[in-house]
Amino acid sequence: MSSIFRLIPDQASTIAADVDQLYWFITGVTAFFGILVCVLVVYFAVKYRTNDPLAVGAPITGSIPLELAWSVIPFLISVVIFAWAAQVFFDIYRPPDQTLEIYATGKRWMWKFQHLDGKAEINELHVPIGRPVKVTFTSEDVLHSLFFPSFRVKADAIPGRYSTVWFEATKIGEWHIFCAEYCGTSHSGMIGTVHVMEPSDYQAWLSGSGGGGTLASRGERLFSELACNTCHLGDGTGRGPSLLNKFGTQEQLANGSIVTVDESYVRESILTPQQKLVANYQPVMPTFQGLVNEESVMALIEYVKSLQSSSGGPAAAANTAAPAAAPAQENR
Ligand code: CUA
Repeated sequence: MSSIFRLIPDQASTIAADVDQLYWFITGVTAFFGILVCVLVVYFAVKYRTNDPLAVGAPITGSIPLELAWSVIPFLISVVIFAWAAQVFFDIYRPPDQTLEIYATGKRWMWKFQHLDGKAEINELHVPIGRPVKVTFTSEDVLHSLFFPSFRVKADAIPGRYSTVWFEATKIGEWHIFCAEYCGTSHSGMIGTVHVMEPSDYQAWLSGSGGGGTLASRGERLFSELACNTCHLGDGTGRGPSLLNKFGTQEQLANGSIVTVDESYVRESILTPQQKLVANYQPVMPTFQGLVNEESVMALIEYVKSLQSSSGGPAAAANTAAPAAAPAQENR
């Protein structure tokens, strides 16, 4: 798959070539001017050498055209790099609307990937080719950094908050997963393999053994085990707000500000409920810090996401079978 030594990893995602072109452009510009200066230093040293110990250099009074040239040309080159890099940056940090969602947790010293259908894997990640994949992840202990070199995406895993990377694989094969943030003794061993498969192979893999219910159904179980359902009633009469059709909406907070109900907000509300209290509700919710681990939080988030139907609120759903809105693989 890969030779022993290569300058840069294979380009195996839709943005890899863009990143590389920009990288080589910047490297080329830097090398050009670096070499130009070195060559001129040597050339002038030879050209203007003298053996006369009393020689005095010619007086230099400056040159407006020259000074304008060496100001304006680098400025224009910088602007080109800025505009180009901004374009690539937006492509990398703005996932498409429809993505295959995967959760991940970094901990010393492994990556755990959690698929929405319940399947989990450690230091391995199976994804289909030709489909945008969004990985939402955090760390359970120290700073890590999730790095897919062949996809040219990388983001820090920060305890206490979610990061995301997205990619669309373009080459079947096995590619590296690295931790790119020094995180202790076995940092160098915090590696894994991403398996890019044909969609049909991926479906076959996905339907293989393992799981134990979808992530959302696990979250649903937790929702009643932790008694969340006693306050978050579906009809809005509970001591906490109804979570039905809540995900993705804007929420008015007690302090007057507005927050989007996304993964980070749901997570924050579970762990530090008073931080962003919803308007017209009392600060009565206890923290679940220490009671639920990151994987449980992800399951609860998926459950809240799945509550997008008109039938059955959280209270009803928690006591009955799975909610009508079966947790799909697609975003929302
Ligand atoms: Cu985790 Cu380095």
